[in-house]
Amino acid sequence: MSNEDATAIIEPLAAPLSGRCRVPGDKSISHRAVLFSAMAEGTSKLSGVLDSADVRASIAAVEKLGAKVSLASQPDGSLAGTVEGWGARGPVQPDGPIDCGNSGTTARLLMGMLAPWDISVRIEGDASLSKRPMRRITAPLMKMGVSFTPAGAETLPITEHGTPHLKAITYNSPMASAQLKTAVLLAGSYADGVTELNEPSVSRNHTELMLPEFGVSTTAGDRTAQVKGPAVMQAADVKVPGDPSSAAYLVCAACLKRGSEVTVEDVSLNTARTGFLVTLERMGADVLPKRTGLSGKEPVGSITARWVPRLRGCEIPGHKIAGLVDEVPVLSLVAAFAHGMTVFRNVEELRAKESDRLDAIVCGLAQLGVDAWTEGDDLFIEGQPDLQVPDGLVLDARGDHRLAMTWSLVGLTGSKPVAVTDFDSVAVSYPGFMDDIEELSR
Ligand code: S3P
Repeated sequence: MSNEDATAIIEPLAAPLSGRCRVPGDKSISHRAVLFSAMAEGTSKLSGVLDSADVRASIAAVEKLGAKVSLASQPDGSLAGTVEGWGARGPVQPDGPIDCGNSGTTARLLMGMLAPWDISVRIEGDASLSKRPMRRITAPLMKMGVSFTPAGAETLPITEHGTPHLKAITYNSPMASAQLKTAVLLAGSYADGVTELNEPSVSRNHTELMLPEFGVSTTAGDRTAQVKGPAVMQAADVKVPGDPSSAAYLVCAACLKRGSEVTVEDVSLNTARTGFLVTLERMGADVLPKRTGLSGKEPVGSITARWVPRLRGCEIPGHKIAGLVDEVPVLSLVAAFAHGMTVFRNVEELRAKESDRLDAIVCGLAQLGVDAWTEGDDLFIEGQPDLQVPDGLVLDARGDHRLAMTWSLVGLTGSKPVAVTDFDSVAVSYPGFMDDIEELSR
């Protein structure tokens, strides 16, 4: 790989991927471990925390608000150490804005965290985050008594004015979003009474699993979660398992590169996150999750993926999308090499991610020579198993880590080099991605 102006030339792998490896800590769980520890009374002990640009944004945010973070780099690249939270004292009034960089999780969860405190905080983000919808978070928080300026703002920058007199609410969320759910539950932990969040389909449940560890009384069912406040969050110990969304690139690389066999160890097998494995299995892939235990309340284990000569398209219904939402780009690439049509139903949320991923998938696959299109909120991909990737291809990651890794697989698992612009965005969730791929193909 060579690197110039953040464009990487990705060369085809010389050998199939083979062997065992680990992926860095789960991004969603790492954010929550850092943020919940900052809110808690006492000192929490964290290990396996993902060291990436997004999680660093959460760490910087809570430091600015008065939490004492002592997390150090470990030999395996993770962060481990302690976080002393603000507890009942609450966060301090920061002397300037909080910059969440590219991280939607930081910005949105922060809004829930700041809700119960009598301070005003300006929240900012980079160009991509400043385009992403925030009304979905401010709307329920306003019902709880929080105010924002400018009033009715759709996007960052937004200044939040919290209140110690939060009202508990029942909120029927218009979309399945774990960030929205978490913001409401965090604010609800400080309101007097039960706050309930209902969602149209099941989003990831790391918050519901972790909040009780921090002493917040939480109940959760199918598409519903409640917290009972006011709670005093207490420090906890969290060991973060590997990120299934990062593992997905290694698994999909093994599905695409002839002769590969890869096992990813110590990864979260939370079923709210492993929808991509179900989809790959339905496409005829040889993927095998094997549960070995628990990390906190998160199920963990290994995933083995073996290359098979023939994959087929399938249809993914709308209510399954939240369980694989971050994997739609890489699954779309696998679908491009499968026999027949793949249809992802109701993938409108992809338009509001770090980039417009729906448009990016359609444009990138068109460059490969694959027919892909959207009709309403559905994505159609007509697979071409004998696809010959054109020479001199330049694929645009659009500053989006998930696109950078997806497009890199075209070069890695194919027979021609491809250029990927903005490849350095992998630092957002998986800085060591290329090293891990190279290690597995040695
Ligand atoms: C996340 C939830 C998902 C996901 C994002 C991380 C989280 O977004 O796409 O990468 O940590 O809660 P939604 O809020 O849309 O579910």
